[in-house]
Amino acid sequence: MNSIDLPKLFDLTKMSRKPGFQNGFFKKDILSVDQFDRDGLAYIFTRTDEMSEMVETVGACDLLHGYTLACVFYEPSTRTSASFIAAMERLGGNVIPITQGIQYSSVSKGESLVDTIITLEQYSDVIVLRHPEIGSVAKTAKYSGVPVINAGDGAGEHPTQALLDLYTIRKELGSLNGLRVAMVGDLRNGRTVHSLTKLLMNYDISLRLVSPDVLRLPLGMMNELIDKGIDVRETDRVEDVIKDVDVLYVTRIQKERFTDMAQYEEVKNYFEITPEVMANAKDKMVVMHPLPRVGEIHYTVDKDPRAAYFRQVKNGMYVRMALLAAVLGQA
Ligand code: NCD
Repeated sequence: MNSIDLPKLFDLTKMSRKPGFQNGFFKKDILSVDQFDRDGLAYIFTRTDEMSEMVETVGACDLLHGYTLACVFYEPSTRTSASFIAAMERLGGNVIPITQGIQYSSVSKGESLVDTIITLEQYSDVIVLRHPEIGSVAKTAKYSGVPVINAGDGAGEHPTQALLDLYTIRKELGSLNGLRVAMVGDLRNGRTVHSLTKLLMNYDISLRLVSPDVLRLPLGMMNELIDKGIDVRETDRVEDVIKDVDVLYVTRIQKERFTDMAQYEEVKNYFEITPEVMANAKDKMVVMHPLPRVGEIHYTVDKDPRAAYFRQVKNGMYVRMALLAAVLGQA
């Protein structure tokens, strides 16, 4: 009989912390990237490395057995909702998914956001919430007895996306300090841009902001960057920055946030990353995108090894596993 190669087993004791250890995120709402300093980020990223190793070696474990996540999305989502569900299930927990069909919930009967969340709190240990109104997740979290994680509040913040973006940059390029990052696209409405820019302020980086004039980064954030002494410059052409960036963070023009559709039509095809554009980029750099893309990156760029957006997607599951375990006191 041929011998069978048994899979290398993951040492699960690696993931259990010392008795009495209390991480800083236990029972906390996760509403903004402002809650993460460099120590907090280092802690989450170490846990994320463990989650990734666990999934790659044994696939799943029972760390969150007996815990339930309510996943509530009042705006469309593919990656954020699916990765939170996958994260919970890979850790042995359960999910109440109110994601793709909010129209089938009592919201369509006129139930308020607060009543919906107080109801779901009765069944769950943690709630992930996405809502179109800026500030709505933070407001609702005040009424919830279980931790609420912000999965995007309109054009406000998207903290878990920023965590996975930062984790991806670190994993792809080794370190964050000294990098030049270009943010491209809808910098006014893109909540992922807002959260990632805030997180990057913790590091010694330089920023290039590339957008049409009407979609520039909000003035408040721009002032914050300047006050922090960050080397930041704005342009409306990718060609001006492509040669010397380490990270090209591309985003979609956020059609749903426009009140003037004529203005959207003017800017919707404002740029496209193609192999010709990439020919001018450094050999060691990454192209990232929170996705979905709607024409900003041509499909032929996908086979470029510098295209990191699908690796970024996978990191999203690992980061959310780490965060769920931390908030539930199991990491
Ligand atoms: C982003 C979002 O929802 O803000 N997507 C995501 O969560 N990965 C980006 C977008 O919608 O453009």
